[in-house]
Amino acid sequence: MVAEFPSSSKRVLFEVSATPQKFIVVEGPIGVGKTSLARRLAHSLSGQLVLEQADQNPFLERFYKNPRAAAFQTQLFFLFQRARQLEEVRQEDLFGAVRIADYLLEKDRLFARVTLDDAEYALYERVYERVVVDAPKPDLVVYLQAPVDVLVDRIAKRGIRYEQHIERSYLEKLTQAYARFFHSYDASPLLIVNSAAIDPVNNDVDYQLLFSQITKTRRGRHFFNPTGSSLLQAN
Ligand SMILES: Nc1ncnc2c1ncn2[C@@H]1O[C@H](COP(=O)(O)OP(=O)(O)OP(=O)(O)O)[C@@H](O)[C@H]1O
Ligand SMILES: [Mg+2]
Repeated sequence: MVAEFPSSSKRVLFEVSATPQKFIVVEGPIGVGKTSLARRLAHSLSGQLVLEQADQNPFLERFYKNPRAAAFQTQLFFLFQRARQLEEVRQEDLFGAVRIADYLLEKDRLFARVTLDDAEYALYERVYERVVVDAPKPDLVVYLQAPVDVLVDRIAKRGIRYEQHIERSYLEKLTQAYARFFHSYDASPLLIVNSAAIDPVNNDVDYQLLFSQITKTRRGRHFFNPTGSSLLQAN
């Protein structure tokens, strides 16, 4: 089976049968390009998208304006929303369907550790243990990395109003938390992508290179950094 991706200037063909993964997750800090890449992958693979629904969280805007006051509500809302969404994915478990998600459930814990104080986090952990069901296990996680400056730029460019309150120090903490998390992550095959050096979202050549690496990555952890830049490391 072949899927077509109509690009701006040419048509690009992909061999869908070459993709063994049924569930691919794209992860990384705010604004790094998860949703955009997940959409492109879903298009190439004729897959089903499982997307974060941050705009449905009524506490998020309040959180960005005043993090201390709304962090706990924001985290709880995301936790319930995502656990339910992934439970549905697991129950549907469409025969043969490929799914591409733009988040891992574990990201919630990672954000909670950064945004909550110790007492709140302890309570959050108790709720997490109760709420988290068997989330489907990814066949591949694509971890997008980029320096904080690049995230700041992309968040400014995409211009979502309430995101303009995001502080640089918050992005620094999140970026570090992601790096630590993936440093010891071994639950699924992992592909670590330097998304500052390549642009698989807007550049067709970069996308094709990455797509081909994704279809080849069946186990272990790998770096995808075709330009050879040594800007980033997985720790
Ligand atoms: N590698 C890249 N190079 C240049 N621009 C990029 C790259 N990846 C993404 N972008 C741009 O950055 C912006 C943010 O992308 P996107 O909304 O997909 O991020 P996200 O990771 O889903 O963020 P969030 O965590 O907030 O959902 C978009 O405008 C996108 O086109
Ligand atoms: Mg997104």
